[in-house]
Amino acid sequence: MNEKKERFIELLRSTGRQGIEEVFNYLEKSGFFTAPASTKHHLSFEGGLLEHSMNVYDLAMAMRGPIIAMKPEMEEKLPEKSIIIAALLHDTCKANIYKKTKKWNLGNGWKPELVESYNTYYSEMPVGHGEKSVIMLLNLGLKLTHDEIVAIRWHMGAWDLAFQSYEAKSNIDEAGKRYPLLSLIQSADNMATHILEQ
Ligand SMILES: [Fe+2]
Ligand SMILES: [Fe+2]
Repeated sequence: MNEKKERFIELLRSTGRQGIEEVFNYLEKSGFFTAPASTKHHLSFEGGLLEHSMNVYDLAMAMRGPIIAMKPEMEEKLPEKSIIIAALLHDTCKANIYKKTKKWNLGNGWKPELVESYNTYYSEMPVGHGEKSVIMLLNLGLKLTHDEIVAIRWHMGAWDLAFQSYEAKSNIDEAGKRYPLLSLIQSADNMATHILEQ
């Protein structure tokens, strides 16, 4: 087992959370550990999704300390176990959507070449992104706190709102105010995707 996968499993197991072994079984079978993080935007190679999840966790934990130093009451609102669960499992929805393919690409010198790539298949469970992760985890029997549900559901922030209703906008605004874990995971996901992984 590679080092990142070992650390991922060890961290999640350390939460002692009911249902976590079923989640491991699913992640293994679905291809989570070998999936890319995206088809072309960030970490679009084998193991990219695992690396991205670890990056989100490391960034969230790096920010936790300074936040608590500036606002001590955040210590109990940002429990380490919830950061582990929300950061490492926020993109569970991506576990089974990538299939390997070959695509034409203009390489150096504008010469068309066939390169390894991925296609995405959402049709097995077409219910969205963050909500899909939450539903999958609950269906697998994982116990989630309200904070974790909200943080995973809305981790895409406004990126998830393009065609959504006034109610969705109100929900995300209220979620941000009530659950600090959401802002932490959103920020870490955004920083991992747009800074570390470019
Ligand atoms: Fe995501
Ligand atoms: Fe993500």
